Amino acid sequence: RRRSTTAVRSSTVSVGPTRLLTKLKHDCDTPLPLLQQVADTMSSQMQAGLSSDHGPGLPMIPTFVHTLPTGNEKGLFYALDLGGTNFRVLRVQLGGKDDRVISTEFDQVSIPHDLMFATSEELFDFIALGLAKFVAKEDDKFHFSQGRKREIGFTFSFPVKQTSIDSGILIKWTKGFAVSGTVGRDVVACLNEAMERQGLDMRVSALVNDTVGTLAGAEYWDNDVKVAVILGTGTNACYIEQISSIPKLQGHVSSSGKMIISTEWGAFSNGLPLTVFDREMDAASVNPGHQIFEKTISGMYLGEIVRRVLFNMAEEEGLFGISIPQKLSTPFILGTPDLCAMQQDNSGDLDAVGSLLYDKAGVESNLGERKTVLEVCETIVKRGGSLAGAGIVGILQKMEEDSKGLIFGKRSVVAIDGGLYENYPQYRTYLQDSVKEILGTEKSNNVVIEHSKDGSGIGGALLAASNSMYSQD
Ligand code: GLC
Repeated sequence: RRRSTTAVRSSTVSVGPTRLLTKLKHDCDTPLPLLQQVADTMSSQMQAGLSSDHGPGLPMIPTFVHTLPTGNEKGLFYALDLGGTNFRVLRVQLGGKDDRVISTEFDQVSIPHDLMFATSEELFDFIALGLAKFVAKEDDKFHFSQGRKREIGFTFSFPVKQTSIDSGILIKWTKGFAVSGTVGRDVVACLNEAMERQGLDMRVSALVNDTVGTLAGAEYWDNDVKVAVILGTGTNACYIEQISSIPKLQGHVSSSGKMIISTEWGAFSNGLPLTVFDREMDAASVNPGHQIFEKTISGMYLGEIVRRVLFNMAEEEGLFGISIPQKLSTPFILGTPDLCAMQQDNSGDLDAVGSLLYDKAGVESNLGERKTVLEVCETIVKRGGSLAGAGIVGILQKMEEDSKGLIFGKRSVVAIDGGLYENYPQYRTYLQDSVKEILGTEKSNNVVIEHSKDGSGIGGALLAASNSMYSQD
């Protein structure tokens, strides 16, 4: 059916880039000076955020993680990982210096869409129930002595104002969550209350952001890891900072030593190459005006930006013929995994692109139109990956300024996790190229960008262990 329509319409399609495509490419362009500027502004916004919570800078959240796991941690620990799309529960058996991670088991469920708009109790009951079911399946071989509580690392991937390693108040929801009644509350208390309702008696010994979990999980295997980045549904980055360089903490904690800072760089917004489609998507979101960097580079949004562009091209330039495919007007009907699948189609007739457009958006297309769709994907993904790279350079530059030579003068690893980075080869390439382009060969030679798979959950368990109330011997 699709082929016959295609054959009829192909004669009416204009060839070559259309006015809208040319404009899109122009608006999304990321030439080196722009990337450099984004990196520089990222560094200065980090600096500003470390000075004060009330200025124009990034949130720069102190995590109260002073030391990373050493490798000596021993025993059985749990982790709860609430990300943007999935919820995971993990059981990790740690064996100390020689054995390290003896075993890990986990359960994963996708978060039902309704729960993202539910009440706080409903969300936390869902989490506690998942945890209770998982704990019930614990093998008898893991013997817990009388009175010893099971300990959990709670990886909670939203901005939280921490006051200690095991407590923190939710500042705002991101990534499409709009759960009522949690903002302003201690999320560990929310979890404790829900566990109590389930009759579960466990202790949350560490509350960590997913970037922090990833840093801990990656550094456990490689001591050169200095930065961790999440590129998944949402995006964020954390790094290791000197407490003496955090003016806003002075007087609150001892000024020596280090602390991991969660930048919440998703909130960055200065100097980004944005289009009318980005502005309209932002205006229609649950958090307009917030998380602009996140909305430009992360997995939740890339598909939606492309959909908006394509729908506009269909309306204004007759891309896809004279009738406008109505399904294409549905927000989020195209996901970032769809863009990725289309971009892997190397066949001459772009059959996979055609099928996907038809299945997902009810769009019938000819070859010329499919090529245009791919160019739109390419443009949005290139912008996203390149800007993510610029953000990473911004962090490295800030660290280098403070430590002269400790970043670019020796091996420095940036650990990245998240579905977008893991599954989208073109995005990965753009990110890596951008880092190299901005830093130049000499500096970038020492920068190693590594995929750290599933580190955030295990990292949460490791931090639960290093902050355990029980002796680790
Ligand atoms: C969002 C959250 C942030 C998290 C990131 C990646 O940006 O605000 O806390 O780290 O998503 O999951």
